[in-house]
Amino acid sequence: MRAIALTALCALSCSSDSAVSAGHFSEGWEASRSPASPSGEPIEPLPRDAAFDQPLAELGRALFTSPLLSEDGRVSCASCHAIEHGMADAKPASGLAAASGLPERPGPALNSPTLYNVRYLFKLNWSGKFDALPEHLDSLVHNPRVLGTTWEALVARLADSPEWRQAFRAVFGSAPNVDRVRRALLEYELSLVTPDAPFDRFLRGDAGALSPDAAQGYAHFKAHGCSSCHQGMLVGGNMFQRLGIMRPYLEDTTEPQLGDSGRYEATGRVEDRHVFRVPGLRNVELTAPYLHDGSAPTLESVIGIMATYQLGRSLTPEQVRQIVAFLRSLTAAPRSASP
Ligand code: HEC
Ligand code: HEC
Repeated sequence: MRAIALTALCALSCSSDSAVSAGHFSEGWEASRSPASPSGEPIEPLPRDAAFDQPLAELGRALFTSPLLSEDGRVSCASCHAIEHGMADAKPASGLAAASGLPERPGPALNSPTLYNVRYLFKLNWSGKFDALPEHLDSLVHNPRVLGTTWEALVARLADSPEWRQAFRAVFGSAPNVDRVRRALLEYELSLVTPDAPFDRFLRGDAGALSPDAAQGYAHFKAHGCSSCHQGMLVGGNMFQRLGIMRPYLEDTTEPQLGDSGRYEATGRVEDRHVFRVPGLRNVELTAPYLHDGSAPTLESVIGIMATYQLGRSLTPEQVRQIVAFLRSLTAAPRSASP
C-alpha cells in the first residue's frame, strides 16, 4: 500500500536517485521492521541498546562545546547544534556570522539539523553528500564556513592546555592526538540517541502512551500520506524527495541558489535541484525553524506547506492541531543524558 503510494509520488517527481532509494525503501522497510512494533506500522521504535562508550562520549561532549575547535577560538559545534534547540539551531541558516559575529566568514546557507539519532541516518546533510560520520567530521574541521582549521592545528591547541592533556590522559592514558580527538567526537555523535519518546512506548505496546489528540494525529499522518516519505525509525531520514511535488515550491532558477540546490550539490545533476533528504521528525518540536532554509517558523506552518506542496491536499485546523500533538509525541530526553 505504502509502496504503491510512493511509486505514484515517484512517477510524478522523484529523481532517478530517489527512485532507487524508494525501491530500496519498500524492501528495506519490510526487512528492518522491528518485531516489537505492531504489525503494519510505518514507523519503528528506536533501539534502546545503542552501544557507545560513556567516558569517551563525555570527552567528546566537552570537545563538542569547546571553541578551541575553531581556528579563531570562537566557534564550537554547539554554536550551531545546541541542547536548548534539540541539538539544532534556532537561526534559519547557521551562518558563522550569526553564530559568532564573524561577518567575513559566512556559515552554511542552510538550517542546521538536529544531531539526535544521527547514527541512524542513511546519508548526511540535506544533500546527502556524505555517507558516514567520520568523513563528514573531517569536512567540518576543514570547511572555512564551519571550523576553518586543520586537525593538526586543532590538536596543537588542545595539547597546549594542561586541562585538556589531563582530560585525555584520564580516558586514553595519553595526550591528545588526531585519532583520539576524532574518536571522542565521533563517540559523542553516536551517543546522541533518544529512544524513549511517548511514541516509542506506544509502538512497544503501551496504548496509553499517546494522548487521544496524538493518536488521532498519527491516524491523519498515515491516512494523508505523510508516512510515505516520513517513515522508518527516524520518521524520515531514509530517502530523497523533491520539495514541491504537487506544485512548485522553490522557483526553478537557471543557476541553483546556494542552499536551495539540495541533492544537486552532491550529484551535479540538474534533476536533483530542489531534491532534499527527507528530514527525520524525531524531536522536531524542539528544532524550529523548519525546512532546509529555515523558512517555516512553526510546526503549523510547515505542516500546511507539506499538505499543499507534497500532497496536494488541505487539512483542517483541527487536523493540523492533532498532527502537531502526534509530532510532539516524538520528543524524548537523550539517553546519554549528557549533551
Ligand atoms: C556554523 C554552524 C555549524 C557548526 C559550527 C557545526 N555545524 Fe554541523 N551542521 C551545520 C549545518 C548548517 C548542517 C547542514 C549542512 C548541510 O546539510 O549541508 C550541519 C550538519 C551536521 C551533521 C549532519 C546532520 C544530518 O542530519 O545530516 C552533523 C553530524 C554535524 N553537523 C555535526 C557537527 C559537529 C560534530 C560539529 C563540530 C565539529 C558541527 N557539526 C559544527 C552547522 C554547523
Ligand atoms: C513526498 C514526500 C513528503 C511528504 C508526502 C511529506 N513530506 Fe514532510 N518533508 C519532505 C521533505 C523533502 C522535507 C524537507 C524539505 C526542505 O527542507 O526543503 C520535509 C519536511 C518536513 C518537516 C520539517 C522538518 C524539519 O526539520 O525542517 C515537517 C515537520 C514535515 N515535513 C512534516 C510532514 C507532514 C506532517 C506531512 C503530511 C501532511 C509531510 N511532511 C508530508 C517530504 C515529504
